[in-house]
Amino acid sequence: MGGGAVTVSRREVTPAFCFKEKNMKPALLFPICIIFECLASICAEDCHDCGVEFHRSYIVDGQPGFVSCPLCYWLDFNGEVNYNFTWSKNGSTAHVTTERHARVYQDGRMLKFIPARLEDSGYYQCVVWNSTNCFKKLAEVIVFQNDNGLCYNKSIMYLQSDPVGTSGKMVCADLSDYVDKNSVQVRWYKECKPLDTSRSKFTAIGFDLTIENMTKDDEGNYTCEVTYAYDEKLYNISRAIGWTVNVYRKRKPAVIIFPKNNSIEVELGCQVSLVCSALYSAADFTLSWNVNDMFAKDYYNSSRIVTGMPIHRTLEDGTSLMTVHLNISEVKKEDYENKFACVLQTSNGLATEFLFIKHPAPNFQGGLIAIFVALALVIVIAVLTYKVFRVDIILWHRQSCFYHHSIKEDGKTYDAYVMFPKSGNTNSIYPVDTFVLKVLPEVLERQCGYRLFILGRDELPGEAIADVVDKTMNECRRLIIILAGINSRDNFFENVFEQQIALYDALVSNKVKAILIELEKTMDYKNMPESIKYIKQKQGVIRWKGNFTDSSLLPYTRFWKNVRYRMPPAKGLSTQTLLSNSIPPSESHTIKDA
Ligand SMILES: *[C@@H]1O[C@H](CO)[C@@H](O)[C@H](O)[C@H]1NC(C)=O
Ligand SMILES: *[C@@H]1O[C@H](CO)[C@@H](O)[C@H](O)[C@H]1NC(C)=O
Ligand SMILES: *[C@@H]1O[C@H](CO)[C@@H](O)[C@H](O)[C@H]1NC(C)=O
Ligand SMILES: *[C@@H]1O[C@H](CO)[C@@H](O)[C@H](O)[C@H]1NC(C)=O
Ligand SMILES: *[C@@H]1O[C@H](CO)[C@@H](O)[C@H](O)[C@H]1NC(C)=O
Ligand SMILES: *[C@@H]1O[C@H](CO)[C@@H](O)[C@H](O)[C@H]1NC(C)=O
Repeated sequence: MGGGAVTVSRREVTPAFCFKEKNMKPALLFPICIIFECLASICAEDCHDCGVEFHRSYIVDGQPGFVSCPLCYWLDFNGEVNYNFTWSKNGSTAHVTTERHARVYQDGRMLKFIPARLEDSGYYQCVVWNSTNCFKKLAEVIVFQNDNGLCYNKSIMYLQSDPVGTSGKMVCADLSDYVDKNSVQVRWYKECKPLDTSRSKFTAIGFDLTIENMTKDDEGNYTCEVTYAYDEKLYNISRAIGWTVNVYRKRKPAVIIFPKNNSIEVELGCQVSLVCSALYSAADFTLSWNVNDMFAKDYYNSSRIVTGMPIHRTLEDGTSLMTVHLNISEVKKEDYENKFACVLQTSNGLATEFLFIKHPAPNFQGGLIAIFVALALVIVIAVLTYKVFRVDIILWHRQSCFYHHSIKEDGKTYDAYVMFPKSGNTNSIYPVDTFVLKVLPEVLERQCGYRLFILGRDELPGEAIADVVDKTMNECRRLIIILAGINSRDNFFENVFEQQIALYDALVSNKVKAILIELEKTMDYKNMPESIKYIKQKQGVIRWKGNFTDSSLLPYTRFWKNVRYRMPPAKGLSTQTLLSNSIPPSESHTIKDA
């Protein structure tokens, strides 16, 4: 099929071409030239088909475009001097004219469209030949239009890019065949709008556009344009550039993430695996275990210690993790003193993080809890014990020598003033007089050593009752009130009017502590004076349930203990006296606390 074209070419060859061959000897040239016509035809038959040029030539409709003869790859056209070219449109026998004023013409090696039209699209065959060889190759020319309303066709662009932050350089490509780089004025557009190249951000020199300090905003569709003059006509030649600003992930230097100069607790004799880990984005480092500034392997030189190979793992965020193990099969004493160092070596130098093996600290926690629980228990028990045995404890305490020495002298004569209803006014089953005049003195005075004031027993003869009460009430440390079965309030204090006043005084001013003793199982407080009710509510009453047996008269029964507890410490009796009485002959618990 190429035969026609070559035939055309052959006819165009002139013998003069042969003489321009530098290396040929003139003597040999003439015969060759004589047979040239024949030779050329032989060549034509053998014209080597080099196929289709991979690169296509794109020309904007209406703009000038040049297509250079594609070369067979092994050909070295040492300049065009030694070769002749012919172009023809594929499928056409007519060669492209060399007429310089034609719209499409051949200019030596070049096929020129000034300007190109859509219908020029297609394959063009270039035949290149000299006196001995002939080659042919097809070139594809695509004439295209720009997208509607745009100054470029988005599918035909020069794709260029530079990284963010740098100064990017964009090139208005493939123009050196048309204009002179040094004198050309390239007009630049972004998204078809003229780019203000007077701004310092942009610098347009030659075919290049430099963008300083690139940001993602500088991305976009750029167009460059030059004016081409031919035959007294001006044409535009434009190139579209898809400009990308690359945002590369910054390479982070490797960094140790574990250990961080920390320690781990390992029992003696246990096995342990020490971990040294580094994060990295480029594996241009080494990670190793050192012990006391030597490689762990060299330091120990023992099978007890094994250093593992680096283990690499890629994390989700794209960075990588490198881990090196130092395995100790059995921790020995010396290990607790050694400095285990995770060493990272990069081109920037060394980074070291230490890991120490420590003895586990004893577990204080369990012990502490136990101590606290025990302490709380002790406190609770102590409080309960005190509550239950309060009376006994206080009484026991009073018996101690120490306590006796610490009793203060208050200048009072009596320990207690005993107030009681006259037996005639009560319907008690117990004779009040017996209790007051026999039982109380027997226990409190004789056995416990208290001094009581009992009206009717202790006042001087002839004294006025009112005076006696008034005077002695202030001489007493306590006020013992005996409550017996009383029918009415009037009855109770009927004959003890003076006492009533004193009682009122004492209670209201709270000068004297009162002790209530009930002689009845069921007492009716409804008719009692308010002050009595108040005392009962505040400190309770002690009930005498006993009879008048011997055992009821022992100061170590519950009843008397309660009385003694409420009484001031006894002064008149030695500890010895009380101790000698401390073992009752026969305990009959007939006396009970209220
Ligand atoms: C072949 O090449 C020579 C030298 O380059 C030139 O003089 C001659 O015109 C060419 N022939 C044709 C047909 O173009
Ligand atoms: C023609 O071109 C071929 C390939 O470059 C070269 O080897 C050969 O010497 C050339 N012939 C002449 C006569 O120059
Ligand atoms: C853009 O170029 C492509 C490829 O040549 C073509 O198919 C398309 O029709 C062109 N767009 C326009 C609007 O001409
Ligand atoms: C470049 O052009 C394409 C097609 O017209 C458009 O989709 C894209 O948005 C443009 N790029 C920029 C940055 O405007
Ligand atoms: C060349 O481009 C310029 C600016 O884009 C425009 O003003 C002018 O008309 C164009 N010339 C031709 C021949 O298309
Ligand atoms: C070290 O111990 C770790 C964890 O037990 C294990 O994964 C690793 O394979 C061991 N390396 C060597 C070299 O024994």
